[in-house]
Amino acid sequence: MVTTINKISEYVGQEVKIGAWLYNKRSSGKIQFLQLRDGTGFIQGVLVKKQVSPEVWEQAQNLTQESSLYVTGTVRQDDRAPSGYELDVTDVEPIQVAEEYPIALKEHGVEFLMDHRHLWIRSPRQRAILKIRAEIIRAIQDWLNNESFTLVDPPVLTPSSCEGTTNLFHTKYFDEDAFLTQSGQLYMEAAAMALGRVYSFGPTFRAEKSKTRRHLIEFWMIEPEMAFCAHEESLNIQENLLSHVVQHVLKHCEAELKQIGRDTKPLENVTAPFPRITYDEAVELLNKEGMEFKWGEDFGAPHETKIAESFDKPVFITHYPVEVKAFYMKPDPERPEVALCADLIAPEGYGEIIGGSQRIDDPELLKQRFDEHRLPKEAYEWYMDLRRYGTVPHSGFGLGLERTVAWICGLDHVRETIPFPRMLNRLYP
Ligand code: 4AD
Ligand code: MG
Repeated sequence: MVTTINKISEYVGQEVKIGAWLYNKRSSGKIQFLQLRDGTGFIQGVLVKKQVSPEVWEQAQNLTQESSLYVTGTVRQDDRAPSGYELDVTDVEPIQVAEEYPIALKEHGVEFLMDHRHLWIRSPRQRAILKIRAEIIRAIQDWLNNESFTLVDPPVLTPSSCEGTTNLFHTKYFDEDAFLTQSGQLYMEAAAMALGRVYSFGPTFRAEKSKTRRHLIEFWMIEPEMAFCAHEESLNIQENLLSHVVQHVLKHCEAELKQIGRDTKPLENVTAPFPRITYDEAVELLNKEGMEFKWGEDFGAPHETKIAESFDKPVFITHYPVEVKAFYMKPDPERPEVALCADLIAPEGYGEIIGGSQRIDDPELLKQRFDEHRLPKEAYEWYMDLRRYGTVPHSGFGLGLERTVAWICGLDHVRETIPFPRMLNRLYP
């Protein structure tokens, strides 16, 4: 039976056996220091020449970076050790002496690291980011489950588009045309009519020719959808959800945030309520700040960054012109040229992390929108049914997981937020 490093504190003074990889090694001639990792944590093994057999000493000496091995030793509390514990090694059993490891313990270029992403994820920094990603997912699901949302899984292969036809991934479904899903939303609307409050969590695809630090081709979205819910109430849900997530990560990922050097001060501020400004006010703000911007256009990354700078929390921008938004968004009854929608812009230049809206519930208006957007009505017959059989006011939103992870971790690029990023010009590994 092997023990894992994260449980080592339970075995002080006892002998344990762990399975590990050799992360690094130092030797003084009489003592070898083995930096060991097993995925759950890191610990230093101390091997004293006088105290082990010559075979064990030599086997340890032959170990290369990333060699796999079993290590037996006695756990010792040591306040100088980063983990608080060390292992006085009594036995070493190599599983494999690794070939020369390509990712040496020095700086490497990004493209090289991306080509070796399958190995790069072993590094302490990448491990910490993936741990935080998992904790963010857990916090999101915990909060939603607690608030009576039911998890529903939409399909990945779809006959129609949700977010416009320009960035669809086309594939064949036997003899039919099919597309990889851009968003589970339309199916979540059907699910909300069956289960009230629902959410999906899954991969979504956009064949976007964008090469920015915010864009992935394949990314994961959490998409809650609520029946009998107006736009404003959806915003309350969004801010409460996100505050919970950030505060949860601060509380449960202290070590990982420290490992990646995240300044947590700006995150401590992230508590509901969040400021809300209208698109009109955002345009005014940009013009006042000397950034020329015409009403009716969509914001780009520099605009979002500029707007976010005026706030120390995420900020909702509401009521965008209907022209720049998706076909399903409900127009404001008081002012039909704008939609009952909002994008949530993260602080520190991370841009839009949530997009959401109230949905059109009137069958006539929806039909009109299909025509305006030149969408094939036949493919959406089932979606129209939702308005034929007991239509209700309903709202929902999509939270981009990778952008949220990038922001909470303070990363330069979304490529480090997902185990195996799919990006423009990158499908390997
Ligand atoms: O704003 P979007 O396109 O909204 C929708 O897809 C809606 N159907 C969601 C809904 O209401 N259920 O995407 C939602 C979020 C964005 O705010 C962003 O965080 C993320 O998904 N996102 C991307 N993340 C990484 N790479 C991309 N190419 C992304 N496109 C959108
Ligand atoms: Mg959007």
